[in-house]
Amino acid sequence: MYSVYKLITTPTPFYMPKRIVFEVSGALKLHNELQLVGVEKGSKIFLVLDPALKGLEHVIKTVKGLEENGYVVDTYTDVEYEPSIECLRRAVEYIRKDDFKAVIGIGGGSTLDIAKVSAAAKDNPGRDVEEFIGMDKIPKRLTPVIALPTTAGTASEVSRYTVFTRGVGKVGINGYNVLPDIAVVDPVFTYTLPPKITAGTGLDALSHAVEGMISLDASPMSDALGFLSIELVFKYLRRAYYKGSDTEARYFMSLAATSAGAPLNIGRAILGHSISQTFGPQFKVHHGTACGMVLPYIMEFYLTAVPEKLAAMAKAAGIDTTKLKVREAAEEAVKAAWKLLEDLDIPLSLRDIGVSKAELETLAERSVKEWPRPNSPIELTKERVLKVIEAMYEGRLMKIKN
Ligand SMILES: [Fe+2]
Repeated sequence: MYSVYKLITTPTPFYMPKRIVFEVSGALKLHNELQLVGVEKGSKIFLVLDPALKGLEHVIKTVKGLEENGYVVDTYTDVEYEPSIECLRRAVEYIRKDDFKAVIGIGGGSTLDIAKVSAAAKDNPGRDVEEFIGMDKIPKRLTPVIALPTTAGTASEVSRYTVFTRGVGKVGINGYNVLPDIAVVDPVFTYTLPPKITAGTGLDALSHAVEGMISLDASPMSDALGFLSIELVFKYLRRAYYKGSDTEARYFMSLAATSAGAPLNIGRAILGHSISQTFGPQFKVHHGTACGMVLPYIMEFYLTAVPEKLAAMAKAAGIDTTKLKVREAAEEAVKAAWKLLEDLDIPLSLRDIGVSKAELETLAERSVKEWPRPNSPIELTKERVLKVIEAMYEGRLMKIKN
């Protein structure tokens, strides 16, 4: 018997919101959450909404529920996909003009990121958003933030991270004062997601769990939620993909995504997100789909560094590992991720999405330079990362027969 947990001598803080409400149709009771955080009836609420969801019946009912319970809702929809710093600045200018008592975000990761940072910016007047870039650069936040995810993947509703586009690159405004106070996870919002988005966002959740658990900063508490997330993704993502109206599968995929927020917050992403954040935006591949594509390759890459962790992941994925040696079980986890991608019709090679061989070296260089990962258990050099990217180009794992 081996242990997947290690004694950690450095501080291992655990970050999640103060309250996470997980409930089908929980969005219709948002007024209760506002009252809980001391926002009185009659108060003005800054509601950041994904513009694509404006006409959605469940959103209309959610806003109506707030208004019927005495709140004045100002719905703000100037949100871009993968929002720019300029887009964030516009939201900050808007929120600073009025006396909003709380911020609610309803949408995917982009919308929730705008909601989280604009609330914090309101409480730090006179400062430009550029000053907030980095970790814990926001001095304070008093305005309550309630986050409602409408996909099952980004975990932005429970995370202390945000991502914004600046020029050709990405920047993060991260830290304690970015973390929402309350997450209301209502799976009803995900019922109408198309199959491709269902697969991509579900794989984003899986990659948060897997990467955050392989990370040097993983903690037993965040691992516990990571294992739960892996189990749920392998049980329910195929069902949600093939039959969007499967409400049980939708429920558990929402739970999987929010649970994966713990390893994402604590362990944080490693090589998978570095590579996917590089080729994804360049070749217009959805963030989660790109993270999913790279997942079996990076799991194989880390096989020698954390075999016990990967073996335990295989078990969480539903594989009977009782008769397997640690290494064999770990390899089964890689194969299970590969099989999942096949079943979800995800491209398995960089060639399939139009990347040329001549571009591989630049992708490796950018992955290492733009997305350094001191929390990676294998030091990330350009040479090592290039090998992973070359295997991915061919669509063949390096050592394991797939
Ligand atoms: Fe992600």
